[in-house]
Amino acid sequence: MARPDKLKLGTFVYTFGFNPAAWRHPDVDVNGANRIDHLLNVAKMSEAAKFDFMFLADSPAAAIGDPEALSRSPTKMNRFEPLSLISALSVLTERIGFVATASTSFYEPFNLARIFASIDHLSGGRACWNVVTSDHDETGYNYNFDGLPPHSWRYERGAEFVDVVFGLWDSYEPDALILDKASGLYYDKDKLHTLNHKGTHFQVRGPLNIAASPQGRPVIAQAGGSEPGMELAARTAEIVFSLASSLERNKAFAENVKGRMAKFGRQTSDLKMMPGVVINVGETKAEAQAKVNFLIDNLHPDVGRWMLGEFLETDLSGAALDEPFPMERLPAEPKGSKALFEELTDYIRKGHTLGHLIRHYAEKSTGNGITGTPTEIADFMEEWFEAGAADGFILMCPTLPASLADFIRLVVPELRRRGLFRDDYEGSTLRENLGLSLPANRYAAARQPG
Ligand SMILES: Cc1cc2nc3c(=O)[nH]c(=O)nc-3n(C[C@H](O)[C@H](O)[C@H](O)COP(=O)(O)O)c2cc1C
Repeated sequence: MARPDKLKLGTFVYTFGFNPAAWRHPDVDVNGANRIDHLLNVAKMSEAAKFDFMFLADSPAAAIGDPEALSRSPTKMNRFEPLSLISALSVLTERIGFVATASTSFYEPFNLARIFASIDHLSGGRACWNVVTSDHDETGYNYNFDGLPPHSWRYERGAEFVDVVFGLWDSYEPDALILDKASGLYYDKDKLHTLNHKGTHFQVRGPLNIAASPQGRPVIAQAGGSEPGMELAARTAEIVFSLASSLERNKAFAENVKGRMAKFGRQTSDLKMMPGVVINVGETKAEAQAKVNFLIDNLHPDVGRWMLGEFLETDLSGAALDEPFPMERLPAEPKGSKALFEELTDYIRKGHTLGHLIRHYAEKSTGNGITGTPTEIADFMEEWFEAGAADGFILMCPTLPASLADFIRLVVPELRRRGLFRDDYEGSTLRENLGLSLPANRYAAARQPG
């Protein structure tokens, strides 16, 4: 029986596209990293196609590694800070949502609560925070640490961090503002609340000095698939970004996370599992493959080694491309994302050459990518959606705007023909369009009889 709901779509944004060689694509504006028009164009294309949101991955650090490789790959070396960017994009668009990544390991809760609440007002209720605890040493070096803090500490701090932010976002009850010039009353003092949080990592008095959000509170996304990651997602997340490499692995992950929600009093309909997928589409399979080949042929071998090494937390400089992956260089235990590490190491242990692995990752990320015709792409999405492995997809476009334009022109009409994707937005806020319930304000809820 077909699902009654429709799948959700988001545009994953690395400035020029997911593929590290994307900036060399003829359609790419090489100045796009420091001028708003390129990413505004991507936002407007996604909005015109009725996508749910634009997804900004991020890490508060320049990458560290082979200088030759980094000088050839702008992805992590020159990009906008995401909250600044979505503030600007949100006032230049009307309906598209904005998911910005911010780390609980290197921010203070009061700052982040205030920034996201402000962007939610600026955008009329289209802001979403992608909660991460960070995943590379280079971030820790910028925040008084000698590398990435331990996984357990990051999640302990992260869980408390999210609770404090939720508490601050509840400071003003939804109807606290009175705004009565005649009586001179601006807000109802009984509907503004002080948090007085004292915990292991934070001491935050509050209240937050901005009124309640137009969508109750900004939407919460989360990326991180380890045991504490799944607990945090089940307790707090409304969108989960995953990179599991197959339908079966995504389905198991979705069931694992959603299966934990009841104990937190949450409905599974309030969590959208959205795998990231790399899609290369063409009128014919050959045309789609030619687009992949162009990027792979323009991917400098040093950049390929750095890209894979960065994902696996190791340095692959000088490793032979026609030899199997140098397993001795693989760390015993990842510092960053356990989920991501596990996804790729299973594939690496199959004995492929390094050259093959670089090509595989550049074309398909951890493996959940597809190169093909519009019908093949729609079949792929319909199968994962109907199987419950995905409630939607985050499109990791190899190049921007070209791959996004291809998907919108070739695949969206097919998804609509099958009744799988919306023809128009359901509402004006991100929460309404995602079909998420409005979270109750804890103080207003406490007033309710019974
Ligand atoms: C699909 C996915 C995407 C991620 N994206 C980011 C990101 O953009 N920025 C970042 O700092 N960390 C990112 N992370 C890692 C998170 O910081 C995560 O909290 C941390 O690495 C722990 O991950 P784990 O729960 O999988 O062990 C991502 C993780 C996953 C699984």
